[in-house]
Amino acid sequence: MRVSLYSDEQAASVEAARQVAALVRRKPAAVLGLATGGTPLALYKELIRQHGQEGLDFSGCTTFNLDEYAGLAPSHPMSYHHYMRENFFEGVNLPAERTNIPDGLAEDIPAHCADYEAKIHSAGGVDLQILGLGSDGHIGFNEPTSSLGSRTRFQTLTENTRTDNARYFASLEEVPRHAITMGIATILEAREIILLAFGAAKAAAVASMIEGPLAAMVPASALQLHPAVRVFLDEGAASLLTKKDYYRYLQQQCAGQ
Ligand code: GLP
Repeated sequence: MRVSLYSDEQAASVEAARQVAALVRRKPAAVLGLATGGTPLALYKELIRQHGQEGLDFSGCTTFNLDEYAGLAPSHPMSYHHYMRENFFEGVNLPAERTNIPDGLAEDIPAHCADYEAKIHSAGGVDLQILGLGSDGHIGFNEPTSSLGSRTRFQTLTENTRTDNARYFASLEEVPRHAITMGIATILEAREIILLAFGAAKAAAVASMIEGPLAAMVPASALQLHPAVRVFLDEGAASLLTKKDYYRYLQQQCAGQ
């Protein structure tokens, strides 16, 4: 994993956006894997800015979101469909028919999940997957003890995740108990992965992901198996890393790459 440390969330997000934008310029038909949550908001803002001010063109791109709450309609204000419209899709020129998000209201969930996997495959696979990180080390909605070989599927959320995400809902009771999420094996098939994590609440998960053993209890540790992962951290999220000086040294050596 290539670990990059920044003074704050904004600086890290601008750098991460630069990597996404470079791909889109190099490969106008890029397939992007998208994430939700508070973490990628500044990254999406910067991509929208580059679209508006620098002509960054998404018209040839296809996108696949990681996950969606089961039981929430796309119109629900807390659905990830709604989040994506509000925070990214409305600000760029992605063709709506090439944006894909799991359907939280799918009647036959296993068939929907198989279809989602098939769609990713027929689009040529994900070129670059954007990830956030749960405070318990989850990626997408792959909760601790998820199979490292898991594919897109129905997943029961832990109380930890429901409590973390309650800040986006009116009350904990309203947070769904289930989700549809790409699996860990699905995520690992992306050609490049960028993961962003900000704030001290993510520090333990970040340290386990980067420096801990590969473990089903820390789904993000599966990223250790991937050859092209870049991690963007602020000071708080990096605070429990033991090899911080080494990452800083490498970062200086790789500056501009
Ligand atoms: C949610 C999402 C994840 C996200 C994580 C962190 O559960 N399913 O994709 O990375 O929580 O969220 P936040 O960025 O709001 O801290």
